[in-house]
Amino acid sequence: MKWRRRNLLSLEDLDKEEIIHILNTTTSFKEISKRPIKKVPALRGKTIATLFLEPSTRTRASFELAAKRLSADVVSIYSSSSSILKGETLRDTARNIEAMNIDAIIIRHSSSGSPLVLSRYVKVPVINAGDGSHEHPTQALLDIYTIREKKKNLKGLKVSIIGDILHSRVARSNIWGLSKLGAKVCVCGPATLLPSEIEKLPTKVTYKIDEALKDADVVITLRIQLERQKDKFFPSLREYAREYGLNSQNIKLAKKDVLVMHPGPINRGIELSQEVADGPHSVILEQVTNGVAVRMAVLYLLLQKEGKNESAN
Ligand code: CP
Repeated sequence: MKWRRRNLLSLEDLDKEEIIHILNTTTSFKEISKRPIKKVPALRGKTIATLFLEPSTRTRASFELAAKRLSADVVSIYSSSSSILKGETLRDTARNIEAMNIDAIIIRHSSSGSPLVLSRYVKVPVINAGDGSHEHPTQALLDIYTIREKKKNLKGLKVSIIGDILHSRVARSNIWGLSKLGAKVCVCGPATLLPSEIEKLPTKVTYKIDEALKDADVVITLRIQLERQKDKFFPSLREYAREYGLNSQNIKLAKKDVLVMHPGPINRGIELSQEVADGPHSVILEQVTNGVAVRMAVLYLLLQKEGKNESAN
């Protein structure tokens, strides 16, 4: 298929064929990172700006490596050292960066919807690297890629997402992406950490971890996002870990070849025990490795030289 979208803002936007096209393109880029010289000229002459207005280790490093391995130049802007601290608006920041003739903007922002707003201010492609509790599309794409690599086909797989669903952009992107590819998604957490609109999303909902784990093919554990919690959503971290933490006992409810995933950063001993995080079922570091290839594919598709990406989105 020919890629036509200008931006990557969410997986809710994409159809099944578009998601599969990104996954297939990822496969052709994965081997580049294993070469002694990890570079191809696909985006030579392009310049990509990363605008990270929230902390990040994996996503920012991964996008930067992806761009550099495609021979693009990268300029990185952080909230802590940019004129945003002096009160410059997102619109002005974005239009000033664009005026330097960059070719794409990758944005992480604490406000849901800010990548969409930004895409209306600029003409270059905008890639959402995580917006508030809305979506984190490239994280879900790398999760889905990792599952597909291990299990071959997502159709009918039981994928349980356990933890702080309320604040999780990763959960939302995964619910959309996984369900479009035929997986049976189940979300689980305390009632206080499940959003009220969850029933409208294509997922089963349970408050019981045993139900979520029973015969699961994949378990995605999520970090308790204490930095986004002004209210008290559960009595104590110890109680949360006891009720909703994945450990070497309750994992036995899942299938024998279950994959354990986590987008990172992990609160070890809370949502995930040390033994399971580093145990034989864990594919957490493989997720990180695949993240570079997924982001190479996304950058390549959005910035490819042949033809213009025509759709406004
Ligand atoms: N998974 C993820 O988004 O990690 P970072 O916050 O470190 O980018």
